[in-house]
Amino acid sequence: MLQIMLSKTSNRAAIIAILISLILYSSSIVAYSRLLNRLYLPSSLTGPESLAFDSIGGGPYTGVSDGRILKYDGPNSCFLEFAHISPDRDKTMCDGISDFSELQETCGRPMGLSFNYKTGELYIADAYYGLVKVPYDGGTATQLVANNEQGNPFGFLAGLDVDPQTGIVYFTEASSAYKIRDLHKLLNGTQDYSGRLFRYDPTTNETTLLLSDLAVAAGVAVSNNGSFVLVSEYMANRIKRFWLKGPNAYTSDIFLRLPGRPDNIKRNSANEFWVAVNYPFGSPPPPIPPVLPLGLRVNEQGLIIQAVPLVEEFSTESVSEVQESEGKLYATSLHESYANILTL
Ligand SMILES: *[C@@H]1O[C@H](CO)[C@@H](O)[C@H](O)[C@H]1NC(C)=O
Ligand SMILES: *[C@@H]1O[C@H](CO)[C@@H](O)[C@H](O)[C@H]1NC(C)=O
Ligand SMILES: *[C@@H]1O[C@H](CO)[C@@H](O)[C@H](O)[C@H]1NC(C)=O
Repeated sequence: MLQIMLSKTSNRAAIIAILISLILYSSSIVAYSRLLNRLYLPSSLTGPESLAFDSIGGGPYTGVSDGRILKYDGPNSCFLEFAHISPDRDKTMCDGISDFSELQETCGRPMGLSFNYKTGELYIADAYYGLVKVPYDGGTATQLVANNEQGNPFGFLAGLDVDPQTGIVYFTEASSAYKIRDLHKLLNGTQDYSGRLFRYDPTTNETTLLLSDLAVAAGVAVSNNGSFVLVSEYMANRIKRFWLKGPNAYTSDIFLRLPGRPDNIKRNSANEFWVAVNYPFGSPPPPIPPVLPLGLRVNEQGLIIQAVPLVEEFSTESVSEVQESEGKLYATSLHESYANILTL
């Protein structure tokens, strides 16, 4: 999600950030990553907000600013078009458009994405088209859900995860009051609690509202056995847990409070979660070595096991997602034109 560094100083935020960096620096969980490689998008495209790998580890796949889903096809061919959001996409109009353009309303803006490994289908939370899916061989996306539970078009969708066992899709509406083109307004002091968490069942086509009143619902991740689903509230510096099974089913609690703004959450193969954490919008990095943005590895109980500062890789930009795959870390940003691959 968006994070622009503003010149306006927020002393309180800076002091908090300094305290966080002192705490993390004195802790043994901090491990510096090393940049191994950068996967660049084709010229003029930006914003690999989220990455997905297919069932044989192919990819990564990512949604970009001009409404396409690209697949990384190795160092020789780089990123190739795999799918597109808009059913009657006009290439002349859409190809190469940048983020937050009005044209994204027509061309689409894919955000969170995740495969159903049993069917090979790719599910996508699109900021303008709602919940869509793409067949295993790519092509045109099919719109599945365009409106919220009140029958109104979504403000904008952001995060998505597919339960690996059941194929049930969890997705977030960051805000029902704002569009993604107004994201900087949304993140600049606005008190918006219109974010929601939804569940979509592909066997019935039914969509269920799980949580509302969220302070910018950014990322989502379901636990490995489907007992709970996590949702990050970007503006509230916390992650909520919604119980799906057991005695607390259909209630929620706070899973983790964070030293910054949490964006996407990604499960790894050990059933832990990686969370991308950022500076609050508008606060400059503190003068001593900054630790935000960073990736945090958290276990199913909500304990932080590893903190990976990403300031060298992203400088003053925010990191949208940190994800582990095949022993490496992938870190992306809505504002960059590449995905970083790092040592774990
Ligand atoms: C953020 O809000 C402040 C105060 O309302 C305003 O002065 C500033 O220009 C805004 N910045 C952006 C990037 O919208
Ligand atoms: C779900 O929607 C698809 C079209 O998107 C349709 O083919 C299918 O029959 C529907 N399934 C149910 C159970 O309604
Ligand atoms: C899911 O996994 C957690 C931790 O791994 C375990 O405590 C819980 O009992 C499991 N729940 C179900 C329904 O299998």
